[in-house]
Amino acid sequence: MSERQRILTGDTPTGNLHIGHWVGSVKRRVQLQEKHECYFLIANLHAYTTRADSPMDVHRDCIEVARDALAMGVDPEKAAIFLQSEVPALSELTYLFAMLLPFNRVMRNPTLKDELKIKGLADNYSFGFPLYTVGQTADILAFRAHSVPVGEDQVPHLELTREVARRFNKMYCGVPDKAPDEEHESLGGVFPIPVADVGKVGRLVGTDGQNKMSKSLGNTIHVIDTAKKVKKKIGKIYTGQDSRQPNDPGIVDPEKNPLFQYLDVFVEDEATKVDIRDRYERGDNIGDGEVKMLVADAINELLEPMRERRLQYEDDAVVLEVLRSGTARAIASTEETMQMVKDVAGTGFFKRTLTLA
Ligand code: TRP
Repeated sequence: MSERQRILTGDTPTGNLHIGHWVGSVKRRVQLQEKHECYFLIANLHAYTTRADSPMDVHRDCIEVARDALAMGVDPEKAAIFLQSEVPALSELTYLFAMLLPFNRVMRNPTLKDELKIKGLADNYSFGFPLYTVGQTADILAFRAHSVPVGEDQVPHLELTREVARRFNKMYCGVPDKAPDEEHESLGGVFPIPVADVGKVGRLVGTDGQNKMSKSLGNTIHVIDTAKKVKKKIGKIYTGQDSRQPNDPGIVDPEKNPLFQYLDVFVEDEATKVDIRDRYERGDNIGDGEVKMLVADAINELLEPMRERRLQYEDDAVVLEVLRSGTARAIASTEETMQMVKDVAGTGFFKRTLTLA
C-alpha cells in the first residue's frame, strides 16, 4: 500500500470546529495529506436537507469550517478543500446514480433511518433528504476515490457507494458479475470500489463530562478559545467524584471519568500518563486539580500553533481564495471522471471545459 491513493472525505458544514473534530477526523486528515492525493469536501448541499431555509447561515458556516480546518493544519498546497455546490459533476452524477438504485434500497439505510428518527421528521422529510445518500455516492465516485476516511456512522453510505460503483461498472463497462472488487478498474470499470477507512477514535466527551462534544450542547473547546478559557473549561469538568480528596483512590476508567479520556487523547508522554493513572488510582497524593492542569496544558500546547496559523486566515478573502483553488482542483479531477462516464453511459455528446472565474 505504498502507492499514492486518492482520498475523499467531507463534512456537512456546521460552523466552527472544536477539539472533538480534531480528535475524530481532522488530525487523521493532516496525516493523510502528506502521502496521498486528498480532497476534503464541504458538503453544503447536504446541509440543505435540514437548513434550506437558512441559506446565508450555511454559506457563512462553509467559510468558518474551512478557516478552522486550515488553522488545524490542513495544508491547501497539499490537499484540496472545496465546496460541493461548486463542482457540477457531483450533482450530475447524483442524478445518474439515482437511476441505478432501487428506491427501496436507498430507504433501507440504518444511518438515514436514524437521522429521520432523531430529527423527528416522521413522514415530513423532503425528497432531497434521502437523496443526500445518493449524493454522497457521487461525492466519492466523482473522484474515483480509493479510500474514504469516515466515522462508523458513515459505513452504510459507503456500502451504498460500493454498490453503485459495482453496478455502474457492470452495466456500462462490461465488468463481469463476479469480478472481485480490487479488479474492477483493471477489468475496464470507470470506478475503483472504494473502501471505508473507519476511524478508531470514538467521540470525544464534552466539557460537561456527560455528552459527546457538540456545538449545540455548549460543551466544546474551540481553536479560538484562549489559553485561559481552556483552563477554565477543563477546570469545570465533572469527574464523577465530587467529594474525593487527593488521598482517596480514584476512578481512571475513561467511561466513568471523562478526565481520563482527555488524558489519554491529549497528553503525549506515555510515562506521564502511566504515572498519573497509577497515582490517581491509588489515591497517592493527587487530586483532580493536578490532572486537570496537565490536561489543560496539553490542550493548549496543541492549540497554540493552531491559534497562530488561524491569524493568517482571519480575512474571509484569504479563505475564499483557498476554497477557489481547491474547488478548481476538484473540478479538474471530477471532469476527467465525467468524460469517462459520459463516454460509456451514453450521456455525452460534446466535450466541455469548466473554469472558475
Ligand atoms: N455525510 C457526511 C457527514 O454528515 C458528509 C459527507 C458528504 C461525506 N459527502 C461525503 C463524507 C463524502 C464522506 C464522503 O458527516
